[in-house]
Amino acid sequence: MTADLQTKIPDSATPLLQLSHVSITPKKSPTRLLVNDVSFSIAAGKTTCVVGESGSGKSLTALSVMGLLSSQLQLSGGEILFNNGASGVQALGKLTEAELQKIRGAKIAMIFQEPMTSLNPVLTVGYQIGESLTTHLGLKGDALKAKIASLLEMVGIPAGRANSYPDELSGGQRQRVMIAMSIACEPRLLIADEPTTALDVTVQAQILKLLAELKSRMNMGMLFITHDFGVVADIADDVVVMFRGEIVEAGSKAQVLSNPQHPYTQALLACVPDAEGKKALKPIDYAWLQETDSIQSIAKQNGQI
Ligand SMILES: Nc1ncnc2c1ncn2[C@@H]1O[C@H](COP(=O)(O)OP(=O)(O)OP(=O)(O)O)[C@@H](O)[C@H]1O
Ligand SMILES: [Mg+2]
Repeated sequence: MTADLQTKIPDSATPLLQLSHVSITPKKSPTRLLVNDVSFSIAAGKTTCVVGESGSGKSLTALSVMGLLSSQLQLSGGEILFNNGASGVQALGKLTEAELQKIRGAKIAMIFQEPMTSLNPVLTVGYQIGESLTTHLGLKGDALKAKIASLLEMVGIPAGRANSYPDELSGGQRQRVMIAMSIACEPRLLIADEPTTALDVTVQAQILKLLAELKSRMNMGMLFITHDFGVVADIADDVVVMFRGEIVEAGSKAQVLSNPQHPYTQALLACVPDAEGKKALKPIDYAWLQETDSIQSIAKQNGQI
């Protein structure tokens, strides 16, 4: 990363987020690639869904963008460029913790996979939603209270619940508090790690609608991790399929869902039930893995990545 790129003012063609050849390894075992050579980009106002089996590196990829990898792990290669508007294009992996703190919660926000570990049990949810509004936007007093109330109502929680502590709310309500916290400062990029998995379908539909509205109103880009192909069909512009730390297929939603090229994507889609429950479901068959030395070689052969 050169200094001139960090200060470059982006033009309309500059992606909101660009991951190039990102690799993540444990510090103590730098040859063990938990994430291997991952590249994709997200444009402003677009949603990229990341799918793939448990342990395929989805959350680590998301955490690396936030600069929140565990201290045992490292970004061992590659570059993550964030288009921060008038502040220029920033290489997130090169920023100091103080610089990252200015971006986190304000310009890039994340809804974490486990809401309970991200909420502080001894602070009211209203206080926790308000923290980033005070830190990043300087809101105080009545203006702060009004903004907290409107955010709670936006996610379907009565404003009076601002004074509740996390353990006084249901799991679904806590997840919605997390969503209110994440959108409080109207970030340019929202990273959502399975944000609706714990919610019932009506609340899930309400949250997805809300996120879609924010996306179009604020031109917000989204990196959305999910296991649910119904959600992918609903909200994705582009889809990235990960398997054992690598991208095996990437493309537009129509390409990946209607015409999957990689045997893993085909197998993944073959185990999604249809609405009528008539489709014969197939367990994932890993035979294709034995036929190739590298997971990515099939994808590269097919020109998918
Ligand atoms: N701190 C860590 N130290 C060592 N290995 C780790 C660490 N955190 C995660 N891993 C490993 O990295 C791999 C990718 O983990 P990650 O959490 O990104 O998976 P995921 O795709 O999000 O899975 P899930 O769908 O279950 O959430 C896994 O094999 C996991 O065990
Ligand atoms: Mg995960």
